[in-house]
Amino acid sequence: MSSLDMEKLVSLCKRRGFIFPSSEIYGGIGGFWDYGPLGVELKRNIKDAWWHDMIRTRDDMVGLDCSIIMNPRVWEASGHVGGFSDPLVDCKKTKERYRADQLWVFVYRFNAKDAPGSMVEFWWGSLGGGPDEARPAAEARAGKVAKKLGAPVDSSVVGYMQVAPEDREKVIGPSVEESGTLTEPRSFNLMFKTYVGALESDSNVAYLRPETAQGIFANFKNVCDTGRVKLPFGIAQVGKSFRNEINPRNFTFRSREFEQMEIEFFCKPEEAKEWYAYWRKTRFDWYVSLGLQSDKLRLRDHDPDELAFYSTATADIEYAFPFGVSELEGIAHRGDYDLTQHMKFSGKDLTYFDEDSKSRFTPHVIEPSAGADRATLAFLCEAYTEDKVENDTRTVLKFHPRLAPIKTAVFPLVKRDGMPEKAASIHHQLREKFASFYDEKGAVGRRYRRQDEAGTPYCITVDGQTLTDDTVTIRDRDSLRQWRVPSANIDVMIGDMISGKLQAPQGEISGGSES
Ligand code: GAP
Repeated sequence: MSSLDMEKLVSLCKRRGFIFPSSEIYGGIGGFWDYGPLGVELKRNIKDAWWHDMIRTRDDMVGLDCSIIMNPRVWEASGHVGGFSDPLVDCKKTKERYRADQLWVFVYRFNAKDAPGSMVEFWWGSLGGGPDEARPAAEARAGKVAKKLGAPVDSSVVGYMQVAPEDREKVIGPSVEESGTLTEPRSFNLMFKTYVGALESDSNVAYLRPETAQGIFANFKNVCDTGRVKLPFGIAQVGKSFRNEINPRNFTFRSREFEQMEIEFFCKPEEAKEWYAYWRKTRFDWYVSLGLQSDKLRLRDHDPDELAFYSTATADIEYAFPFGVSELEGIAHRGDYDLTQHMKFSGKDLTYFDEDSKSRFTPHVIEPSAGADRATLAFLCEAYTEDKVENDTRTVLKFHPRLAPIKTAVFPLVKRDGMPEKAASIHHQLREKFASFYDEKGAVGRRYRRQDEAGTPYCITVDGQTLTDDTVTIRDRDSLRQWRVPSANIDVMIGDMISGKLQAPQGEISGGSES
């Protein structure tokens, strides 16, 4: 999908009820999104697939569901109160805010008439999704400025933070014409603050959690004390997190309220390297198994200078979104940093006693931390397809059947001869097991197209033949093949196709028409 097509995806999401801007009737609110009837199913299927594959079907994982607001000491221990901030600059003229680390400055050195080679001008580029993605847009803008001024003798590009403070006065902001409207960068904490109880005083300040991870560390002892777990084991949590992002952007990619799916995997220090390699691969393979093509996915190991001081290794799983290659999930080797910090701040012993070696130590942690909204967006981008069919273009969302919001749609070919009643009874049988949809309105071809846009993998049609031999047609969304099956036990057959146990017949039929 080219970058232009992001607009098509956003518009399909709105039109078909996947994602809406939050509080839209009041003009929306930046960085907040609502999931509509199809979107909520899609996102739930992603979270369920994660929970099923990473927790339920493993013996070394347990789950948790922690509160969003925690004792604020948690965030002092984790470092979020002191250090969870971005450098922020304001434009005094337009009141716009920018992240200084996402801005590029184009440095032009002109041969000024009176003092050749001496004049230096600074020009802003515009913002992008991240430091690297910002560059092309910034470059294009700077190119236009350069043309207006005449070709520069020499030009270079630097990050804003590299511009000496005394030179920042010469920088021109992204949406103004003159220099000197930008403030100096200042540190902006991304945590949303609130007050607990009736008093709005400093002693009552609390924070909406910026990650779910800390709830897991704070409960490490509780989970160990329940006696179900033995190293190595992981604790997982899915839930809302909040960050007052300076520049929410790229649809749901960078939101202020979002959902995370996080695992903290605890192990012996000497085994941590191996577990890191294991999770790096396991998490990458999970996305591939659900349909993200591996050539759009990338595992990027952080350079040593990108690592947090306590981490010996971190890798990002990145996806080639239409707006650029960006992070879906991070897998971090966090050592014993978090448990040690919480021991320091809480005064509680969070070490682990290993029955086998009769020794006590602080476990090390591998953290695969994923975003449910980013995963949803990646699966939407991957699924979006425009196919040519019978001299027409159909828009189809080719979701993996496990993720599809609706698994089956059941149609009577026409609204008579008992076909609606038969179709409704099949729909009722199916909806006990999966999200199913009944539709009797309009031409059957139009009904197929509507389901294509929703990403429904199987459409089941009741026709004249059904009434004589109790068979129905199944139409496969991607291949457009249609084949006949007995209607009895169709729920079992569809279940097997969704789980991959049963493949749609190849080449056997076509027959059924698309219209
Ligand atoms: N506990 C580690 C942690 O929170 P992170 O890299 O800050 O690490 C993990 O966040 C994941 O959460 C990201 O890879 C992304 O998928 C998701 N995420 C983070 N900030 C987000 C935002 N503003 N909007 C949507 N998803 C976000």
